[in-house]
Amino acid sequence: MDIVCFRSICDCEKMMAIETEKLTKEYRTKKKIVRAVDSVDLRVPRGSIFGLLGENGAGKSTLIHMLMGITLPTSGSGKVLEYDIVKESLKIREKVGFMPENLGFYENLSAEQNLLVFAKLAEVKNSEERVKECLKVVGLWNYRQRKYKEMSTGMKQRLGLAQALLKDPELLILDEPTAGIDPLGIKLFKELLLELNREGRTIFISTHLLYEIAPIFTHVAIMCRGKIVVQGSVEELEKKVASRREYIYEAKLFSYSQRLIKEILSLNVVKEAFSEKNKLIIKCSRPAASELLQILFKYGVRSFKEILPSLSDIFYTYVKGELHESF
Ligand SMILES: Nc1ncnc2c1ncn2[C@@H]1O[C@H](COP(=O)(O)OP(=O)(O)OP(=O)(O)O)[C@@H](O)[C@H]1O
Ligand SMILES: [Mg+2]
Repeated sequence: MDIVCFRSICDCEKMMAIETEKLTKEYRTKKKIVRAVDSVDLRVPRGSIFGLLGENGAGKSTLIHMLMGITLPTSGSGKVLEYDIVKESLKIREKVGFMPENLGFYENLSAEQNLLVFAKLAEVKNSEERVKECLKVVGLWNYRQRKYKEMSTGMKQRLGLAQALLKDPELLILDEPTAGIDPLGIKLFKELLLELNREGRTIFISTHLLYEIAPIFTHVAIMCRGKIVVQGSVEELEKKVASRREYIYEAKLFSYSQRLIKEILSLNVVKEAFSEKNKLIIKCSRPAASELLQILFKYGVRSFKEILPSLSDIFYTYVKGELHESF
């Protein structure tokens, strides 16, 4: 009996919120065929905050539209919460909270009125109560009577998120949710998403704004000209990039001297060493912490650490085509 339970827990952990196989979309115009999504195998684990990263025109919205059953694939297949994206798209729309790129709210209606319209259309039970809850969750309760056209961009995006939450979904799909929001607004948005994820929801976000929202991602897929060039947990990708690039260390010392830099540069493993904002940055061709520390201790080192690549380093490494992968 125990073994059966253990198995079912493992199966559940392995289950994907979104899974596609060779999913492809071609747009045919009079002049040409655009392959907006090209043979995409996407795997979004349940419980993750998954970032779909890609520059403008990479194919993010087209991929999302196929997942939501808004656009039909040209070929390939996909499942969202175990439902087939072609045959069971109505079920997907019922179960998934979707925030589109163009929010589609009525300009002359208030935040509350807009949400009520969407709640009625989606046949949300106890719609008035649920609208109230969602306005509170996204911090718009005090602005509920403000007309949509008089709201700031950050407020509009938060209203978009409230709309996606109406059905209390276990999966949220958000297409560019932070576009146009200022840094403080993005901070609030990130905290909100983290809280929604802690409640057990899987969150799938498309974005090209790497620096702003990316720190909350647990997993990413990088999309370039319709293809997913790499995907996985952020930890895995950081390690992969770090192992193929240079090793960067940062040291803080009580004082800096040319003699120290010269001594560091005399090590074969060191490619570059320079001081920047009271820190010494050392770039090496392989791991070299112990050799560096032997020298740094002589000069009174205060702190020493390895700098791992950021998500933007990962993005540009893959998008530039240095590390394209196939599945
Ligand atoms: N209805 C359409 N007809 C023809 N081509 C289209 C259509 N919709 C999108 N495309 C093309 O498909 C490609 C992918 O577009 P898509 O909107 O999916 O990209 P995106 O990654 O969401 O971009 P953005 O970051 O600007 O939102 C682009 O080359 C775009 O011009
Ligand atoms: Mg888009």
